[in-house]
Amino acid sequence: MDTILSLAKRRGFVFQSSEIYGGLNGCWDFGPLGVELLRNLKEQWWRAMTLRDDVEGLDAAILMHPRTWEASGHVEQFADPMIDNRTSKARYRADTLIEEFIDRLRSKGKTADADALSEKLRTASSPDDYYRIIVEANIPDPVSGTRDWTPVRYFNLMFTTHVGPIQDSSSIVYLRPETAQGIFVNFRNVLDSSRRKLPFGIAQIGKAFRNEINTKYFLYRTREFEQMEMQYFVPPGKEQEYFDYWLEQRYKWFLSLGMSREVLRIVPHEKLAHYATAAVDIEFKFPFGWGEIEGVHSRTDYDLRRHQEYSGKRLEYTDPFTGEKYIPYVIETSVGATRSLMAFLCHAYTEEDAPTADGGREKRTVLRFHPLLAPVKIAVLPLVNKEGMPERARAIYRDLLRRWKAQYDDSGAIGRRYRRQDEIGTPYCVTIDGQTLDDGTVTVRERDSMMQERIPTERLVEYFSAKLSPNEDA
Ligand code: GAP
Repeated sequence: MDTILSLAKRRGFVFQSSEIYGGLNGCWDFGPLGVELLRNLKEQWWRAMTLRDDVEGLDAAILMHPRTWEASGHVEQFADPMIDNRTSKARYRADTLIEEFIDRLRSKGKTADADALSEKLRTASSPDDYYRIIVEANIPDPVSGTRDWTPVRYFNLMFTTHVGPIQDSSSIVYLRPETAQGIFVNFRNVLDSSRRKLPFGIAQIGKAFRNEINTKYFLYRTREFEQMEMQYFVPPGKEQEYFDYWLEQRYKWFLSLGMSREVLRIVPHEKLAHYATAAVDIEFKFPFGWGEIEGVHSRTDYDLRRHQEYSGKRLEYTDPFTGEKYIPYVIETSVGATRSLMAFLCHAYTEEDAPTADGGREKRTVLRFHPLLAPVKIAVLPLVNKEGMPERARAIYRDLLRRWKAQYDDSGAIGRRYRRQDEIGTPYCVTIDGQTLDDGTVTVRERDSMMQERIPTERLVEYFSAKLSPNEDA
């Protein structure tokens, strides 16, 4: 993880937020390469989810009417159980503290104790339940080693701010902790304006904010992040069929962008929310272990029913064929753009032993991004800075740059320039050499195989159009 983080910073993928002031915990900035990668990732999701005849797009405001979050249950329930240690003053999520203790028991071979504690944790739901487990299992503070615990309290994860000049409880609004509610409250608007029939979906990409207690693992758990969510509205009784369909679609999306099956797994939720009929996480194998990147949930009519109740507006659907009225059921797909960016970055990172131009061997660091995700698609490199090569190279560069993100690099030995491009995942390098001046051909080097082929300059646009066109399967 540290190696990837340092590459990400050194090459301009991700910087700590407001770093010159010491940074702000849980917030990150995307640098020149990171922003391209993020945009490409969002573009691929948007294409996959909305270039179809049953999904519309939406971009709802981050600030929403505060009643939204009462209806959704976030005001009351979007909270983590927290416990403080009086000696170290450290604050923990109670369930995480217990889980980490269970892991330690397992690593010491105390499987029966670990299993028993796991079972207690699975059924815990109130602050008292968590407190009792911590005290009865005699769990120490990992920092101070003491057992000087406060009671467990819930801590709401929503950030608040105020609208207008008066800062009292009547002016409170929340920074949305998920994009999904913007979709629910616009269900009627989208349905009526697009004259949709069920089943259909609404997709949205946008920022979300959570006042996470423990921000960790780089982009994995941050306070400001981006989500890509889709709510698919179906008639009651059809939810299992569409849940299976969307789970398969979402799993295949990761594969279509270069992930392998070995780094993905599907994990059903152990505890289902009272209204849910199915929920699974798609997990990715990060360097620190398995972690959720996307959730697929079957949420019945809970969300629309709650918004109907709280807003007083009818959110029913009338079946145009049967005349039957009902509140649609919802299948949700919810993936973190920034968290899955980190997954794609980790998956792309490779170190390998590669041949050098003089017959030796050296370590080659390569980001094996799918070409559609790669932040820079093509690098243009004059072999030497003389004999008219830079002029030819610049003309080719300018032409390619009109269509794709390209870089021009003329400094250092050609082998080093290839390595620099490998390290940021550029799939193709175009080299202008002596033969270019004679017959107009250039070499195109492919990042992963390092194979080179000669292509006439006038065919480059056609060549790259084929290589870099959107993936039909994505
Ligand atoms: N609308 C459902 C929902 O928001 P979630 O499991 O809380 O479900 C969905 O979040 C996805 O959003 C996660 O799978 C993850 O990719 C991303 N996500 C959630 N919290 C995050 C955080 N603090 N930092 C980065 N990504 C996060």
